[in-house]
Order: sequence, then structure tokens, then C-alpha cells
Amino acid sequence: MKDFSFYAPTEVVFGKESEEQVARLVKKYGGSRVLVHYGGQSAKRSGLLDKICGLLDEGGVEYALLGGVVPNPRLSKVHEGIALCREKKIDFILAIGGGSVIDSSKAIAYGVPYEGEVWDFYAGKSQPKTCLPVASVLTIPAAGSEMSEASVITDDVHGEVWMKLGYSNNISRPKFAIMNPCRTFTLPPYQTAAGVTDIMLHTMERYFNPDCDMTLTDAVAEALMRTMKDCVFEVLKNPEDYRNRAQIMWAGSLAHNDVTGNRVNGDWATHQIEHELSAMFDVTHGAGLAVIWPSWARYVMKANVSRFVRFAVNVTGVENDYTDPEGTALRGIAAMERFYHAIGMPNSIHELIGREVTDEEIKEMARKCTRNYTITQGKFKVLRAEDIEEIYRMAR
Ligand code: NZQ
Ligand code: ZN
Repeated sequence: MKDFSFYAPTEVVFGKESEEQVARLVKKYGGSRVLVHYGGQSAKRSGLLDKICGLLDEGGVEYALLGGVVPNPRLSKVHEGIALCREKKIDFILAIGGGSVIDSSKAIAYGVPYEGEVWDFYAGKSQPKTCLPVASVLTIPAAGSEMSEASVITDDVHGEVWMKLGYSNNISRPKFAIMNPCRTFTLPPYQTAAGVTDIMLHTMERYFNPDCDMTLTDAVAEALMRTMKDCVFEVLKNPEDYRNRAQIMWAGSLAHNDVTGNRVNGDWATHQIEHELSAMFDVTHGAGLAVIWPSWARYVMKANVSRFVRFAVNVTGVENDYTDPEGTALRGIAAMERFYHAIGMPNSIHELIGREVTDEEIKEMARKCTRNYTITQGKFKVLRAEDIEEIYRMAR
């Protein structure tokens, strides 16, 4: 096993009445003037936002509200949040929502004490020394941001071409995460399925790595992926199935807090290639992953066929044909493709964006993905711009 450091400081409070503890938790982690940050409509419509505000009132915690975070959260909203926090002397940020709201909260948290432009961190020009504490009341299991050190922001401010970039730093790991599976009953089927796709991909990015010495975390990862494949069909049939919603919600955190494998050794090419799709076409992250992964898998498979055979057999349930490892591996990839379709995810870029992607757009995404041809992506197989272009063409 390679040397590693494991850091998962987030206090998770999980269960049906978990949000009742919000004021106590905010105070425990030093919050007295809170920014309650949320998305479009869902938290208002479900009554969750009102409930959280009522609980903060009861607990004597002051707060200001800032809604309007959109999926693929924007830098312009982050700027608005930073200004509001400074004006109101906010000392704690509470995200009510999913990955987009939590990521926007983390970016605001970096930006408040920083005199420069917060985008500097995402653009790799500077490192934050400190940030405000962040926590969440999670409403969609997907991104895993409730326990992760990552945030992904889309720059809609500088320049004509939107850039979607991630920044990771342990100082932004949320202090606590309140997870009530009942809050996910209202998720539309598409978001449920995209969330499960993202959860599985966070596990797969770690599973397909160049280091094959991971007996324990491989077994944990395979169990998580098999469980997600079963649970998602149950909640698509019955959205108020608490038992299966709860499995998915907890899996979302475990998939991205490094329990299923070391992030540093992971591949992450599928994520990077997808981020360009969601930057250019503003699509749902999980749906973009469902489109890219099968093409990535077919393109890189020969780098380690036995890994794909193991995945095919242990995760997708394909029978192992010992005389034909490549055939087994390919049947596993095809099985994943059928699974994505069965849960309502697209199988091609065309299906995802509703039209043919052009050659120019493919070139542009590959250019951005390699930061103007200066970096490669992936570790399972190292990918240059021309490889990435080919993966987009295969996913077309
Ligand atoms: O805006 P509202 O009205 O709240 O609607 C949201 C949004 O439209 C809706 N929703 C959320 N909870 C709901 C609900 N609708 C009904 N009932 C509920 N309980 O779902 C939609 C999607 O929400 P969003 O927060 O965008 O989803 P997700 O958690 O998938 O986050 C996606 C973002 O996270 C980034 C992605 O790139 C994307 O920008 N990621 C962040 C990561 C991280 N920080 O570690 C890692 C991931 O790989 C990912 O890249
Ligand atoms: Zn993801």
C-alpha cells in the first residue's frame, strides 16, 4: 500500500430529524452571524429553508440570506456572496442544497478574507491562507462536496469563454453535514440518476488507477458501486423509499471522502473531460459523466485489461470468459452503458446537448482541458489533447 494521509474532519449528522440540530452545530463550530446560501427553488418549495431559518431564530443565531445559485455555480454569484458577507460581517457559511451551493459557499469562504480576486485560487495563481468555516444541509447526494476539499466554479466574469475549474484545499472541508434522506424525496428522476452516476464515478476514478495494491479499498469500492446500482432502481420506482434514499445519501459522502481509495492516485480524466462539456453546454455534471466514461474506458482499457475484467465481473456482473479478457472487459463497459440508459442518462453527447457537437467545439474543449496544451490528464493512461479529442469523438 502506498503512503497516504487521510483527513475527513466533517461531523456528519444523519437521519430523519437531523436538521433540528442546525443551530447547536453552527454555534459549536463558532458561527454567530451566518450566511444561509441556497439555490433556485427546491429548498424554498419544500419548506426546508423556512425551517432552517426558524431553527436559527430559535437558537439565537443571526443570519443573512443569499439564494440563486445555479447548477455549475457561477463566479458572479460568488462575488455577490463575498460582498454581502463583508457588509454583514458574516463569520459562518451554511449551504442548503447540493454540490453547486456547497461549492459556491466554499468559494465565498475563501474570498471573504482575501484582498485579491478569488478566481486566483481556481486559476492556480495564489493559495488562500485562511477561509470562513462552511457547513451544509445536504439536499442531493451526488457531488460529495459535503465532506470533500474540492469546489468547482464556472467563471462567467472574465473573458468571453467560460472556464469551469476546480480548486482543492483541506481548509475548506465542511465543519458539519446535516443529511436527512427525506429531503431527497423531492428530487426529480433525472437529478437522482445523475447524482448516482456522479457517486459511482467518484469511486471509479479512484478504482481505475495505476496502483493495483488496494485489496481493502477495492472491496469497499465494489460494494459501494453494486449497492448504488441496486438502490437507484428502487428510488426511481418509489421516490419516498427512505431505506434506499439513505443508502444513496451516505454513499455520496463515502465515495468522495477517500474511504473508497486515495484521491491522489486516482485517474480523474473522465471528470476533467466532462467539466469542459458542462462549461461549454451548461449540462448536468452526472449526465456528462455518463456520456464520457464508456468512451474513456474503451480508449484506455488496454493500459490494464485485467482491471477492467475485475470491474466487469465484480461490479457489472458480467461472466468472466477466461479465454477472452478483452471481450469480458468490453462487455463490462457495455453493461455500464446499458445501466446509464436504463436510469435515464444519455449515452452520447448528441443525446446530452440535443444536437451534434462540432469538430471546432471538440478541439476547443480539448484545448481548455489541457490548459492550452500545457498539461495532460489522467493517470490510468496519460492523455494528451489529441487523445481527449478522440474520446469526445467516440462519445459524439
Ligand atoms: O437550485 P435548486 O432549485 O435547489 O435545484 C437543484 C438543482 O437544479 C436540484 N435539487 C437539489 N436538491 C433538491 C433539488 N430538487 C428537488 N429536491 C431536492 N431535494 O438539483 C439540481 C442540481 O443541484 P446541484 O447542486 O447542481 O447538484 P450536484 O450536487 O450534482 O452538484 C453539481 C456541481 O458539483 C460539482 C459539479 O461539477 C457541479 O458543478 N462537483 C463538485 C465536487 C466537489 N466539490 O467535490 C466534485 C464533483 O465531481 C463535481 O464536479
Ligand atoms: Zn463528480
